[in-house]
Amino acid sequence: MRRLLLFIFYFMYSLSLFTQEPVSDDRRDTKHPKVVKSNITKHYHSNDHHYEDHWEIPSKNPDRIILTFYGNPSSQRAVTWRTDSTINDAVAQISIAGNNSKFKMNAKTYSAKTEELKIGDFHNNKHVSVHYHSVIFENLIPETLYAYRVGNGKIWSEWIHFKTSSNEFKPTQFVYFGDAQNNILSQWSRVIRMAYQKAPDASFAIYAGDLVNYAHLDNEWAQWFKAGGFIHSQWTAIPVVGNHEFGKIPPENNQKLSLQWRPQFTLPFEKSLDKKLHETVYSINYQDILIIVLNSSEMLEQQTAYVEKKLKGSKAKWKIITCHHSIFSPAPGRDFEYGRKFWKPLFDKFSVDLVLNGHDHSYARGHVPVKSRLNDENGNLKTMYITSVSGPKQYLVDRNQIKNYTAEGYTNEKTGEDTQFFQVFQTLENKLIYAAYTATGDLFDKVIIMKDFDTGKKTFVNTNQIK
Ligand SMILES: [Fe+2]
Repeated sequence: MRRLLLFIFYFMYSLSLFTQEPVSDDRRDTKHPKVVKSNITKHYHSNDHHYEDHWEIPSKNPDRIILTFYGNPSSQRAVTWRTDSTINDAVAQISIAGNNSKFKMNAKTYSAKTEELKIGDFHNNKHVSVHYHSVIFENLIPETLYAYRVGNGKIWSEWIHFKTSSNEFKPTQFVYFGDAQNNILSQWSRVIRMAYQKAPDASFAIYAGDLVNYAHLDNEWAQWFKAGGFIHSQWTAIPVVGNHEFGKIPPENNQKLSLQWRPQFTLPFEKSLDKKLHETVYSINYQDILIIVLNSSEMLEQQTAYVEKKLKGSKAKWKIITCHHSIFSPAPGRDFEYGRKFWKPLFDKFSVDLVLNGHDHSYARGHVPVKSRLNDENGNLKTMYITSVSGPKQYLVDRNQIKNYTAEGYTNEKTGEDTQFFQVFQTLENKLIYAAYTATGDLFDKVIIMKDFDTGKKTFVNTNQIK
């Protein structure tokens, strides 16, 4: 009965996915802005909505400060932040961090690129323009702790630390989150903050899509930035676009990437790809770890060629793919067939180590090929596939559906339901240690993958079974 109800719920949910009708938010079920159904032609009157919360109001003070990769992580880093539209002369300063306050004497100042964003283009936002500013720090020294701040020369953020990567393969740690999406401030904040407690020195954080529920609704982005707070300015973010980062802006009827996405995340763009895919499909090489970010919501064929080219040309020690839709979907009725049919063979061929997904609001970890079993001495393991969720919205796992993937070479080893998760990875020499934690910080799943970098052969130990 529970499964039947879930299926009905899921079906109804799928139908409503692109209509941008808001669900209730437990902070404000009565005063949540009414989003107009995008398939209804409506005459718009004044859209000068009030702000919901004081912390979403732009001011002269920098907010929504976020680090992203741009270029070589050992010598470059991008920072983006927001102010109101009166700030036109934005700058960032950076210096090697020091133990006393004199470090700032040697700070280098960068002029920012400023972009105006009319958030009122989406009629449920306040009808204002905001300014997004960005700087790409360059010529940084590898493996060095830096301090930076952003502002306009008079009004500044605090000084914020981050560390550049090494130029070569070295131990590192990073985190990954499934969908945050709903009640972001109320119930996702505890997850990212717990993740920060577990892995404060993480080199980067992968957000595997559906960071918000309504692509263009600025209050939700305000929640996402407030939930992470200074963590977004200290860790380096790898944002992945999900289906909820697309929405209609009436009266137009086509799905548009979130208005905020490109202004607020300074991301690498691949010139060879269609402009539509810029800053949603990109790659990062971090200390010999290759991370390929895909946009599983549009123009998939073009990305197949991109993945092949990137994987073919890579000698990285670890290869990671992340996209929002789950290749081996655990949620009832869901099926990312294109990904399994056209991307998975490439992951097999080039022995991708990890595929990190979201979208299904549950947890599933499995491996390809089926032959790869516990303590497999033969090094058969090719790819570990993980689907996870960090936000409060939860679906059940369809175990029969998962079993059907056996024919496609997948074997599942762990599932989870009704739990908010975050994941921490650690690379140590030839080992990759993977741990999934719950919102309360309890260990839920742990695997150690060992790789012979000369032959590419991998074995793994599922520590859940060892206990
Ligand atoms: Fe999704």
